[in-house]
Amino acid sequence: MSNKPLPTSKNWEIETDNNNIAWLHFDTADASANLLTQAAIKELDDILKTFEKELPKAIIILSDKKDSFIFGADIKEFTVLDNKEQALAFMLNGHALMNRLEAMPCPTVSMIHGLCFGGGTELCLACDYIIASDHKKTKIGLPEIKLGIHPGYGGTARSIERCGPLAAMNIMLTGRALTARAAKKIKLTDEMVPLRQIKAAAEKSALAAPKRKPLPLFIRLTNASLVRPLIAAQMRKQVALKAKPEHYPAPYSLINLWKNEAGNKKKMLEQEAITVAELATTETARNLVRVFFLQENLKSQGKQTQFDVEHVHVIGGGIMGGDIASWCAIQGYSVTVQDRSPEALAKTIKRAQYSFKKKFKRDRRAIRDANDRLMADHRGSGLHRADIVIEAIFEDVDVKRALYESIEPIMKADAILATNTSSIKLEDLTSCLKNPGRLVGLHFFNPVALMPLVEIIRGVDTNEKVVQQALAFAKNIGKLPLAVKSSPGFLVNRILMPYILEAVTMVDEGIPPEVIDKAATDYGMPMGPIELADTVGLDICKSVANILAKALDLPLPDTLKTLSDKKLGKKTGEGFYKYKNNKPMKNQPMENKNATYANPQEVQDRLVLRLVNEATACLREGIVDEKDLIDAGVIFGTGFAPFRGGPLEYIRSTGVDKLSKTLASLETKFGSRFEKDEGWSQVE
Ligand code: NAI
Repeated sequence: MSNKPLPTSKNWEIETDNNNIAWLHFDTADASANLLTQAAIKELDDILKTFEKELPKAIIILSDKKDSFIFGADIKEFTVLDNKEQALAFMLNGHALMNRLEAMPCPTVSMIHGLCFGGGTELCLACDYIIASDHKKTKIGLPEIKLGIHPGYGGTARSIERCGPLAAMNIMLTGRALTARAAKKIKLTDEMVPLRQIKAAAEKSALAAPKRKPLPLFIRLTNASLVRPLIAAQMRKQVALKAKPEHYPAPYSLINLWKNEAGNKKKMLEQEAITVAELATTETARNLVRVFFLQENLKSQGKQTQFDVEHVHVIGGGIMGGDIASWCAIQGYSVTVQDRSPEALAKTIKRAQYSFKKKFKRDRRAIRDANDRLMADHRGSGLHRADIVIEAIFEDVDVKRALYESIEPIMKADAILATNTSSIKLEDLTSCLKNPGRLVGLHFFNPVALMPLVEIIRGVDTNEKVVQQALAFAKNIGKLPLAVKSSPGFLVNRILMPYILEAVTMVDEGIPPEVIDKAATDYGMPMGPIELADTVGLDICKSVANILAKALDLPLPDTLKTLSDKKLGKKTGEGFYKYKNNKPMKNQPMENKNATYANPQEVQDRLVLRLVNEATACLREGIVDEKDLIDAGVIFGTGFAPFRGGPLEYIRSTGVDKLSKTLASLETKFGSRFEKDEGWSQVE
């Protein structure tokens, strides 16, 4: 064997074996993962050009990084694309490489172990054979849609050619990552083998160059020109359930691309580059790229400190504590969950079974292992060995303080005490502790399994090391941690509450809930505020609203003052809406522009500007450490329209002056709750 490093290549190394197979090792210098940057594309293109002159027997592409193949294109490079022309030139570089690879006269094989996304998958698709390891770390996908574009290095036409349109469009439209097994099932890969055999399998394909079987006739028929418009209409309907074309144009462009061009691969490839170049420069794509980096920022929050937790003890096995305990067990931690009520514990364990099955599906061993890790612990015998104790008992200062006093002498000296309180100031809880610095807030959102954000509340007394440990713990259990100041409502509830209160005020004024919710979903919220209030529970809304109303001087709408126990929202079958099969029964919102309540723009402005104004107040008060973290927290804590890039980004893109005028006119009409916060001056 001989190694011929190319003098100019920072990314690739060629190893030629005795069979004259060229093994192309992708190993970006000074990086933990391989990215298909423009430089890496250029270098590989140059290597292939030399191969065209002196052809090896075969080419095998592999990664030298541990447990990762190619993460995809370098998203940072997208952020400097100013216009369509630049974006098109960018895409065409990728196209040139993939076309060259596809046209190589010798067999080409890609060998996937670990993560393989976006441009990485497109590189594989341009090879003759794709071999993947069956390792659980192998994940393959085309997630471009999440960034507001679709595959742009030939992945659209080539994935459809390999898997057929239904399977290929499904992975591109959802952007989901497939396991090696799922990828093999839809024929995205040719073989799935144990990691120890992957090189032998790649070599075998390279030397034997077996013919690939054509797709079955019924799959090929779904690509026929007469059938495509019918299937495309169905796809559009499905997509419309989740994303409006004016907010998220990429899936619709992808469907059109397939419908119009799938009959001619060359044309489809050319058109793909043009469409992606158009999409890449839209406001939506820019904001989704921004959201990607905000997410990376949150992930990095927990990286500074190593916190090795062997055992987690949760006290309070109710809605939150029970779900936190089962989530930690799913994430591989040994967990004891304590509750003063054995009945509550029985329910906790039953609910955990459901969560384990939902997470691990038919993987019985994983379910059994998670069960083994989670122990009901009525007497609290797990307390003395826990590295972190998470308290999620009733929201009552005295009850919490009494508990802390009783557990502190039993806790390990260096264990941290984390409270899931949603509204109590940490300073009201610490005075009963001998070591007040160990108390930190770990504010999970409901439902725990679905909500990605966890607020880490830094009290006045909280030891900074403890804050860092809590950030690390939240990151290690797969959540996005956000450090926030201990102040009423922290960040997320504080920003959300004025928006919900405005919605309830409008109901009190006689505006139908459907009109209010539609105004919010038209703006891009995943769910309207009225339905959200019903879902959270009106009693819970009321208690958080009461605390915030006092602290922030917010007027409380009448409906919340006079709640009936029978109408607490979804959980009682009725709140603002009546519920059937857990779904709200909504009337068609009226669009009569002459009706005073039905001015949708005003309804939307009232909702959005209350939220945005509160976000600027949090900015002014320094509730989080960096400006961008406000947008990150609101997007990942509330689902705030990601394509708008967050409330502060919305102000920037719409313009401070324009929104200030709207705010001023709302203040004139509805009063001081629309008074512009001084924080607006810090937004830009
Ligand atoms: P819950 O009422 O469902 O559960 C509380 C559990 O604590 C009950 O099972 C109760 O038996 C147990 N408990 C009470 N005192 C105890 C003690 N001294 N020792 C052991 N167990 C005790 O309450 P939920 O909704 O789970 O809330 C718990 C905490 O989480 C509260 O601080 C709440 O503010 C916070 N939170 C609640 C959210 C929600 O949506 N429900 C969201 C975020 C935070």
